[in-house]
Amino acid sequence: MAVFVTRRIPAEGLRVLSQAGGCLVQQWDSEEPVPRAELLAGVAGKRGLLCLLSDRIDREVLEAAGPGLKVISTMSVGFDHLSLDEIKKRGIRVGYTPDVLTDATAELSVALLLAACRRLPEAAEQVKNGGWTTWKPLWMCGYGLSGSTVGIIGLGRIGQAVARRLKPFGVKKFLYTGTCPKSECAAEFAAEFVPLTRLAEESDFVVVTCALTPATQGMCNKDFFGRMKKTSVFINTSRGAVVNQDDLYDALAHGQIAAAGLDVTTPEPLPTDHPLLSLKNCVILPHIGSATYATRSTMAVLAANNLLAGLRGEPMPHELLL
Ligand code: GLV
Ligand code: GLV
Repeated sequence: MAVFVTRRIPAEGLRVLSQAGGCLVQQWDSEEPVPRAELLAGVAGKRGLLCLLSDRIDREVLEAAGPGLKVISTMSVGFDHLSLDEIKKRGIRVGYTPDVLTDATAELSVALLLAACRRLPEAAEQVKNGGWTTWKPLWMCGYGLSGSTVGIIGLGRIGQAVARRLKPFGVKKFLYTGTCPKSECAAEFAAEFVPLTRLAEESDFVVVTCALTPATQGMCNKDFFGRMKKTSVFINTSRGAVVNQDDLYDALAHGQIAAAGLDVTTPEPLPTDHPLLSLKNCVILPHIGSATYATRSTMAVLAANNLLAGLRGEPMPHELLL
């Protein structure tokens, strides 16, 4: 059972693989992404592939792997980097890592929301650069959650966990949108299912936690930001491509919305000269939603167990049903 692991991952995950009988591991043992040519060479002849969200697994990779490839296990909850049609055509099984990163990602979403609406990076910068001269009544004011309306785009595992955490801040009303109403989950927050347009118009905070699909790609665009209030704050911890970044830039630069917090961008990494980085009212993080030591370790172990189960023809702990 030869497998290719595309990056250095938490040791606990690799241990699961190396201790499994008959599992032969080849690894790109680096913090940096595997170069495309090394990926194509690495998968050749393998039965299993353990990859990350930064690896594009498309037809070229599958062809390089050859017909022996039976299992792809991604150490991520998102799977937009996998060409599922091509994978399905070849009868390859896919594992992923939902649930285990829900708490960490929801926590980061709340942290980012507070950082953006209360202007934490900008304020902290003022302390360092001498901008803090005295206590000023009108200085560094932002927007708070108490009494607010929060709109969640995608009330899935992470969206619900965000709502659960925001509720105690005194949120008055939750709205949500998605492919279909989720009445049972929504009941916990008395969340109302509304069209995207109404969510944009009525929310003080918009939080994007949906998957990237053809339907959600570029969904937060000029029309969407144009409907948001001037005092509202936009947060995205899902995938950068859900947002039209040029439209977001315009909305932030022209005061159409108050602020944004992004943990995800297109591309990743975002070039350091990107216009969004010149804006004071945009807080950008380097895709660290699931980045706690414990969560990353658990993700690696789950990805390894998914891979092994798939190789053995057993049910995976978390299989993506294609
Ligand atoms: C993170 O974005 C993930 O998909 O796990
Ligand atoms: C703030 O520190 C206040 O005393 O109002």
